[in-house]
Amino acid sequence: MYTQSFNVPDGHSASAETATTVPLASASQQLALEQAQLRFDAVIDADGKIEPKDWMPQAYRKTLVRQISQHAHSEIVGMLPEGNWISRAPSLKRKAILVAKVQDEGGHGLYLYSAAETLGTSRDQMLEGLHSGRAKYSSIFNYPTLTWADVGVVGWLVDGAAIMNQIPLCRCSYGPYARAMIRVCKEESFHQRQGFEALLAMVQGTQAQKEMVQDAVNRWWWKCLAMFGPPDGDSPNSAQGMRWGIKRISNDDLRQKFVDATVPQAAVLGVTLPDPALQWNEARGHHDYGAIDWDEFWATVNGNGPCNKERLATRVKAHNDGQWVRDAALAYAEKQSARNSAMSKVAA
Ligand code: 3HC
Repeated sequence: MYTQSFNVPDGHSASAETATTVPLASASQQLALEQAQLRFDAVIDADGKIEPKDWMPQAYRKTLVRQISQHAHSEIVGMLPEGNWISRAPSLKRKAILVAKVQDEGGHGLYLYSAAETLGTSRDQMLEGLHSGRAKYSSIFNYPTLTWADVGVVGWLVDGAAIMNQIPLCRCSYGPYARAMIRVCKEESFHQRQGFEALLAMVQGTQAQKEMVQDAVNRWWWKCLAMFGPPDGDSPNSAQGMRWGIKRISNDDLRQKFVDATVPQAAVLGVTLPDPALQWNEARGHHDYGAIDWDEFWATVNGNGPCNKERLATRVKAHNDGQWVRDAALAYAEKQSARNSAMSKVAA
């Protein structure tokens, strides 16, 4: 029989780390584990939801923590390239929109850290992974936003690519992640539209503004295609992630959907997507597109993109500068709890 958890090296222990050191499970424990695995498989096969208190294979838990925490880090680091432009937005209206968008990204990070916490990993552990450079976050946020047109293009293309990837995650098999993604996607949709609308205003402006938009599109297009991750054949996590219903659509299929959706939008803006190989393929019913520079992608993912060091340093500084806020919140909570227990003693 095909089972979702069959190939998962859980051992007989609640923790994969201790699997080799615990004594062999008794027959009744073994039976209980097998039944839990069968229940898990049945939920996955029926396209149901796994909830935090349900039994799950350690590898499923680990994959979710990896993906959700990377996703959370991407949202938080993703605030930086645009936050950089809040003080330089060209009008009050654009500033208000940008402030709202950047705040939304912070909120997305918080929902996602909370979703990952339901899997037993603390926020401190996740942040330590980010700040030490061990944890990944999206490659796209390691590129600079050089002009105001970059802010529009980040909304249109980066958030557009993010939505393409995130809509299927609303159907992810892990309940808290799927539910968090519903609100995230609604907000990402506003982000994409505000970016497109800002660009539409610019392309109706001066020749210099149109050139600024085209220049930003030229610099961001290929980076956005790489955002979907390595080709399916080079994606070590995809097969299992899809079998578990965490990922629903493969990296290459999402990338293709993004290209197909974006070509007509570029035509409305009157910009050229910088790929001479980009053309409609009647037989495939999709656009063909050129080769992505995967060496550049991996260099960026591995810490050597143009802004990796700056992004991490800014993030670590923001965290350290916020220590007094966390200290104050903790002190306040302790004071409240002491006051509440004193009051309940008086009442008793
Ligand atoms: N940037 C950095 N690392 C990437 C990456 C990218 N664009 N694409 C893939 N990788 C990493 C993977 O994390 C994995 O590394 P790991 O094994 O050390 O964790 C490795 O490359 C191999 O990739 P796989 O395809 O095997 O990995 P996945 O199956 O996890 O697929 C993914 C990668 C499609 C990014 C998937 O993890 C995913 O859908 N994640 C959730 C969505 C997300 O994180 N999006 C990031 C952008 S969010 C955003 O843009 C914010 C918005 O406000 C704009």
